[in-house]
Amino acid sequence: MTILVTGASGHLGANLVRRLLEDGNSVRVLLREGTNNTAIDGLDVECVYGDLRDFASTVAAVKGCDRIYHCAANVSTLNGDTHLKQEIYDCNVKGTIHVLRAALDADVSKVVVSGSFSAVGHHPSRPSDETVPFYPFAQHLPYGFTKALVEHECLKAFADGLDVVVAVSCAILGPNDFKPSRMGRTLLDFAHGKLLAYIPGGFDFVAARDIVEGHILAMEKGRGGQKYIFSTQFLTVDELMKIFEEVTGMSRPKLRLPGKVMAGIASIADFVFPQIFPNAPRRFTSGAVRILQMNRRADISKAKNELGYQPTSVQQAIYEAYEDFARRSLIARPNNTVKFTVSGKDYRLQHNHNNT
Ligand SMILES: NC(=O)c1ccc[n+]([C@@H]2O[C@H](COP(=O)([O-])OP(=O)(O)OC[C@H]3O[C@@H](n4cnc5c(N)ncnc54)[C@H](OP(=O)(O)O)[C@@H]3O)[C@@H](O)[C@H]2O)c1
Repeated sequence: MTILVTGASGHLGANLVRRLLEDGNSVRVLLREGTNNTAIDGLDVECVYGDLRDFASTVAAVKGCDRIYHCAANVSTLNGDTHLKQEIYDCNVKGTIHVLRAALDADVSKVVVSGSFSAVGHHPSRPSDETVPFYPFAQHLPYGFTKALVEHECLKAFADGLDVVVAVSCAILGPNDFKPSRMGRTLLDFAHGKLLAYIPGGFDFVAARDIVEGHILAMEKGRGGQKYIFSTQFLTVDELMKIFEEVTGMSRPKLRLPGKVMAGIASIADFVFPQIFPNAPRRFTSGAVRILQMNRRADISKAKNELGYQPTSVQQAIYEAYEDFARRSLIARPNNTVKFTVSGKDYRLQHNHNNT
């Protein structure tokens, strides 16, 4: 049985492929030529090259596979120009349509599609579960809109007879982050003393190992046409800074800007930057600031009750991300003691510059 993973070079895909291989599966990955595919280097996988925007190459990747994890997406917190919006739409919506159509044509037995918490509606007074609908008239980023449309396409494919489940992710933290991701870059900046300021707010985070487990549970036990939200823990930015301090041995930035001030700065940057670099990656876009200010919380009861999902620990995920960056020489190990708690158990790890 061959399992296809799209987005295998990305943060989630890199962790999922490793887990599938550990579990003894035969894995095929769809990669784009000319992008950073180091996440797959040295892994015992079958590589096929193509682009999800191209139906023919998607069909070729799907052919002969029994199951698909469709993790690929253009993940962005930018509003972007018309060109970027079109690219996000084409990769996320058209790409998903191509995967689902190819899966139907090839009689694939089950597809799990990665969803995003940004496509789950916001409830101001309680954590959002799967029943809270996406509200289209709120302020959304192009990425969020497309992830809502991705779910719509999954339902259409389900109506056409495909067994497809959506595994919804919150903000991912953890190892095998080769691009690296926004959260990974924030940890790197923190470890190098380059994070100059932070803001209050919070979000639901998911450990890479947990979102991988969520995808596997969705494949094994998820009901077709359903979505399941996977999170590990809600953290305020202050709590996140505290864990970063414990793990890196560095102090948090002295500047804690009020959310409204940061929102103002970010919206000025949103205005100025696009004139010069419309689609350049940026850390604090007004979209990212707004999301943190919403303090969005996830209700994961459905995944727990139906699938037996058990979240682990954000501290452990951050520690694993740190260790992985250090192993790849992206962080110099400081002389410090790392303390964290996993499942109620306290861990203390002494680092020095020479240990591995
Ligand atoms: N990261 C998060 O915090 C987060 C939160 C919520 C939901 N999610 C969802 O989780 C999934 C995985 O996210 P991630 O963090 O792993 O993203 P990521 O690190 O940015 O990786 C995205 C992957 O998608 C691939 N891809 C994008 N467009 C493609 C196309 N047109 N054809 C083929 N491959 C394409 C990329 O390939 P290239 O290397 O060639 O660009 C890359 O492998 C996504 O569906 C995302 O919406 C992520």
